[in-house]
Amino acid sequence: MEQDSNRLMKETAGFAVADDMVKSGMKLGLGTGSTAIHAVRRIGALVSCGKLHDICAFATSLQTEIECERLGIPVYSLNSRELSSGLDLTIDGADEVDPQNRLIKGGGGALLIEKLAAYASALYAIAADESKLKESLGSGFPVPVEVIPEARVQVTRTLEKMGASVILREALRKAGPVVTEHGNIILDIRFGEPVDPAVMETALKQIPGVVENGFFTVKIPVVYIAHSNGSIEIRKR
Ligand code: A5P
Repeated sequence: MEQDSNRLMKETAGFAVADDMVKSGMKLGLGTGSTAIHAVRRIGALVSCGKLHDICAFATSLQTEIECERLGIPVYSLNSRELSSGLDLTIDGADEVDPQNRLIKGGGGALLIEKLAAYASALYAIAADESKLKESLGSGFPVPVEVIPEARVQVTRTLEKMGASVILREALRKAGPVVTEHGNIILDIRFGEPVDPAVMETALKQIPGVVENGFFTVKIPVVYIAHSNGSIEIRKR
């Protein structure tokens, strides 16, 4: 069970981003996970009391889509007429954030669509509790690599040659591996020492069979960090 203090920090960060950045009429990308969900709930509350209106949302996962349905936030495809001109703002969580606001994402398996939403947005914001702040990326929280099932063994070999340890992500309450919302599997990789995340993001993308990876180093977000003393730090780079 998640500790109450940690849950509270996630809620504080999620609420702060929603309160600060979301305006009526915006086209929003809504992220996935236990932090982003608080921003989604805050937006839902502001829509239902009439403080926000004319919101159109793109959900980065089924988790988020179902929550939007519950809250009455209208959700559209990114290909729809409503959203085809792009998003104004995407709000998401992260697994790790380095001092340059580069990220590891995908702990919840939604990295492919989360990266799509980030790139489609004019503004990009991350809500995180202070435990997500790290000096470097790559040797701590495992980096997810989404792979087509047919490429599992070949990609594993290539990743091992690149110096990574590789674990096939197993599902909970289903036998066998996690299958993503796009029918792929996830290899969680970790390096013995920190890596250059920008170089690695590009290198991983070039392996045949890899669909996406969890390094987010191109679209640099503003990061709202909730601290255990209740304060919020807004870090821009
Ligand atoms: C989902 O795939 C992820 O990118 C999440 O945004 C990330 O794992 C952070 O999740 P939590 O907010 O649950 O820690």
